[in-house]
Amino acid sequence: MTRLPAPRSADGPYRIALVCLGNICRSPMADVVLSERVDEAGLAGRVEVSSSGTGGWHVGNPMDRRAAATLTAAGYDPTAHRAHQFDPADLRGLDLVLAMDAQNLADVTSGADDDRVRLFRDFDPVDPGGEVPDPYYGGDAGFEEVLAMVERTAATIVAQLSDELRDQQR
Ligand code: 4NP
Repeated sequence: MTRLPAPRSADGPYRIALVCLGNICRSPMADVVLSERVDEAGLAGRVEVSSSGTGGWHVGNPMDRRAAATLTAAGYDPTAHRAHQFDPADLRGLDLVLAMDAQNLADVTSGADDDRVRLFRDFDPVDPGGEVPDPYYGGDAGFEEVLAMVERTAATIVAQLSDELRDQQR
């Protein structure tokens, strides 16, 4: 099983950035779910989750309405999201960047090796190592599939975070 990179520093939150293409479907869904799991695990304040897209077309926009509806139906609140564009300068301050697909990963790293940049589904407990497929041009089933992947993968990430941060000073 892939392990989380160790925290960059003993103080300050563990910073995770979730990255997709448009930041209106996959990474915002993952952001909402992972943030909720982090809160439930009592790690609010010790883990910081954000999301962004490698493309800038949707900057400032709320989540895609199908992504939002899928989250709402499952009991999450998607309303706070506004799309941001990933800035490579942010890499320095991040503990972990989780890309939704291989293209997102290549765009984040510009091809350079960086073990703080991984595929989100490297942490998928059921079927690790794949991509979160882009649901934007498909039907509602694609959003359900993304939510299922995101929920089980977020649970694994939070279990590892709890482990990793347990011994850290509050
Ligand atoms: P996302 O989906 O990367 O999961 O947010 C997309 C959203 C918008 C576009 C592509 C993918 N687009 O081309 O506008």
